[in-house]
Amino acid sequence: MSAEFAAKTAIVTGAASGIGAAIARRLAADGARVVVADLDDLGASRTAAEINEAGGTARGMRVDVAVPESCAALVDAAVETFGGLHLAVNNAGITGPHAHTGDYPPDGWRKVIDVNLSGVFFCMRYQIPAMLKNGGAIVNMASILASVGFPNAVGYVAAKHGVLGLTKTAAIEYAQRGIRITAVGPGFIETPLLKESDAEAHAALARLHPMGRLGVADEVADVVAFLLSDRASFVTGSHHLVDGGYTAP
Ligand code: NAI
Repeated sequence: MSAEFAAKTAIVTGAASGIGAAIARRLAADGARVVVADLDDLGASRTAAEINEAGGTARGMRVDVAVPESCAALVDAAVETFGGLHLAVNNAGITGPHAHTGDYPPDGWRKVIDVNLSGVFFCMRYQIPAMLKNGGAIVNMASILASVGFPNAVGYVAAKHGVLGLTKTAAIEYAQRGIRITAVGPGFIETPLLKESDAEAHAALARLHPMGRLGVADEVADVVAFLLSDRASFVTGSHHLVDGGYTAP
């Protein structure tokens, strides 16, 4: 436990599972009061209970990031429960359909854009006004697929590229108003999001990373925690890859 985020309130979306849960645990271990937000409200409550049992402070809450009113209610609840909002990690995401562009289902396109791109906008839309009073920091979850293409994932790749545009624009707008906004781009990470891949597909994915393995969620959480901290005081508008060298070749 450290006190780096003592007296700070954080929202982490998609925190019932995977990378988001690791980030919520990490921020709580560093002293933040964490709103664990997810479409899966039981999972959100489970992550929050684990944090509370470990001596941290957390509250689980249901949110659908694709719905602006739900994002507004989440921010209101964070402010009411913990008295302000200082940190946010917009991490909720889905993989979307698996098909070439010429076969990609339009409904699936809409869904993945709604969650992975519009969801980040809707969250920032309500987080930023709540942060203006005291200042704050936001990390948006991008991906290596915000920097490079990947077959059979056009909606996901387009949404993640869009997250960088949102991040840069908002970062410029608020750079002199006390809010830093950055993006993190994981390579393939061992989480339930990859649960559908079999052992062979898993090994093939690992080979795409010069380190020869997939990442683990705590490796992403470490970079997110740094970016949210005052140690990153001159860092804004940037995309931080955590990818075992995936995008280096
Ligand atoms: P995960 O599937 O373990 O967790 C995602 C969470 O988001 C789930 O708990 C899910 O219920 C929640 N969620 C889905 N739709 C939602 C909505 N509309 N509103 C609120 N919550 C919603 O996935 P993982 O791997 O932890 O991914 C987290 C983020 O990291 C995503 O944005 C993903 O695109 C990104 N990412 C993941 C990588 C990986 O290899 N696992 C690689 C690069 C980026």
